[in-house]
Amino acid sequence: MAWDPQQYALFGTHRGRPFADLLNRIVAGRPAVVVDLGCGDGPLTLSLTERWPDARVVGLDQSPQMLEAARGHDAEGRVEWVQTSAEAWDPASVGASIDVLVSNAALQWVPGHLDLLPRWVDALAPGGWFALQVPGNFDAPSHALMREVAARQPRAAELEPVLRRVRNIATPAEYLAAFAALGLDPDVWETTYQHVLDPEGRQRSPVLEWVRGTGLRPALEVLTDDTERAAFLDEYTRALDEAYPREPHGVVLGFRRIFAVGHKPA
Ligand SMILES: C[S@@+](CC[C@H](N)C(=O)[O-])C[C@H]1O[C@@H](n2cnc3c(N)ncnc32)[C@H](O)[C@@H]1O
Repeated sequence: MAWDPQQYALFGTHRGRPFADLLNRIVAGRPAVVVDLGCGDGPLTLSLTERWPDARVVGLDQSPQMLEAARGHDAEGRVEWVQTSAEAWDPASVGASIDVLVSNAALQWVPGHLDLLPRWVDALAPGGWFALQVPGNFDAPSHALMREVAARQPRAAELEPVLRRVRNIATPAEYLAAFAALGLDPDVWETTYQHVLDPEGRQRSPVLEWVRGTGLRPALEVLTDDTERAAFLDEYTRALDEAYPREPHGVVLGFRRIFAVGHKPA
């Protein structure tokens, strides 16, 4: 799937908040090797170099578009950017054990990622940290309406599987059990953010702009015909207007996220 770093960056401040909340629970003093799995367009990975200035930081992502944007942000070449999928990535390729492995808002795109956890946890140094955050909002109106409107389109049969594919998350309890079974000391929680979008009133539908940068992308890739795409977007936008009305202070998007941090015993 092709990513659009500019569209993704529209809500960078809001998207950065859960990353900061995730990192706050990692109590690593001076990690030597830090890896960001599904690093995206760069700013958050670069913030790791500020938090741990002495660390070697590696950013992994499958998308050439995102990595190109990331390299563009990294004028000083502080991060090693590597194109790979989470599934194909061999942690041994880092050449050292990993002190902090973080994955923010990426593993929902990796079906079966629980099965990959043992490989990643094995690669951690004693005392190392593994931290993930995934959206838990697939039943929120933003996504439920996307599926409902998709089901009424002429290409409903093609849209259904691609919209289902992105739901691959576990429950907080399942992440906790998986971390504990791998010998990690688990710290798992969920948060529902109330993002106030577009307070200036510049965007026709800020929730549409938000999902255009992420969860709607697979549907838009199916809808290659301009008329079909416009019909879908028109109906979806009207449904979003009702679910997310504009208030005097902006459009409020409730967004649940799941966090799981594991500490490997020293
Ligand atoms: C929503 S963005 C999150 C980016 C960044 N971590 C952040 O928090 O802003 C999801 C990222 O996961 C990457 N991604 C999706 N599937 C992947 C996979 N199977 N392996 C590696 N990266 C993947 C995408 O290319 C994209 O950059």
